[in-house]
Amino acid sequence: MTITQGGAHSAVDHSSQKRGMNLTLRIWRQNGPTAKGKMVTYKVSDISPDMSFLEMLDVLNERLILDGDDPVAFDHDCREGICGMCGVMINGQAHGPQQTTTCQLHMRSFKDGDTIDIEPWRASPFPVVKDLAVDRRAFDRIIQAGGYISVPTGTAPEAHSTPVPKKDSDAAFDAATCIGCGACVAACPNASSMLFTAAKVTHLGLMPQGQPERNDRVVNMVAQQDREGFGGCTNIGECSASCPKGISMETISRLNHDLLGALRAGARPKS
Ligand code: SF4
Ligand code: FES
Repeated sequence: MTITQGGAHSAVDHSSQKRGMNLTLRIWRQNGPTAKGKMVTYKVSDISPDMSFLEMLDVLNERLILDGDDPVAFDHDCREGICGMCGVMINGQAHGPQQTTTCQLHMRSFKDGDTIDIEPWRASPFPVVKDLAVDRRAFDRIIQAGGYISVPTGTAPEAHSTPVPKKDSDAAFDAATCIGCGACVAACPNASSMLFTAAKVTHLGLMPQGQPERNDRVVNMVAQQDREGFGGCTNIGECSASCPKGISMETISRLNHDLLGALRAGARPKS
């Protein structure tokens, strides 16, 4: 049924309606962390170009459930590009062909008849939990190692009592937009977490409130990412190119600068 301009209903004009897309999906299925995985092929039909990628997976899962099959496990929460929970490799690219989150990727980025490969993040510090869902708690442990500030309790300070230069607050804000999705790690041939760690070090280290822990923060967060098994940065730049929030490589320069300064000042990681 279509709705005319005057609000009256008229019969469907099928000839003017766009048909949805028919797609072949090749999806990584893996029952658990130690199970052997494999790519499994599914067909989905009549997919609206306006659907998000996750809604397209919902359509597949509804059909699998109705057929009594196991639905494909994948992570998601906000579906608004905010929480960082979603993220899969789509045709070998972290979050797919657009620089956005998987939940904000729309099916109009694909063509009718396409075959789409969908895999979990590939990095040993992100072990597969099931299918497309991976365990990203390594990021939480990096944050725990130094991603905090000390805040004196008491009455709220006077607004504007701590002036911050605009260029610093802008750069800190840009770094703070990192949502911890892990695309940078998945895209990097070294599985390096430098962009993520650098975003956290930058957003706290540029603000006056972040100064007391500045040296300890950087040495401890870098030591933790090494303990988690992330690789080293060799300035390839795939991380930034895949980052849905456009975190720049400049943050990595800032991290390296801070790290050298902290080590020269005698800061050493906690064992
Ligand atoms: S730096 Fe970008 S890609 Fe990496 S975790 Fe943060 S938002 Fe995701
Ligand atoms: S589901 Fe929250 S960023 Fe995609």
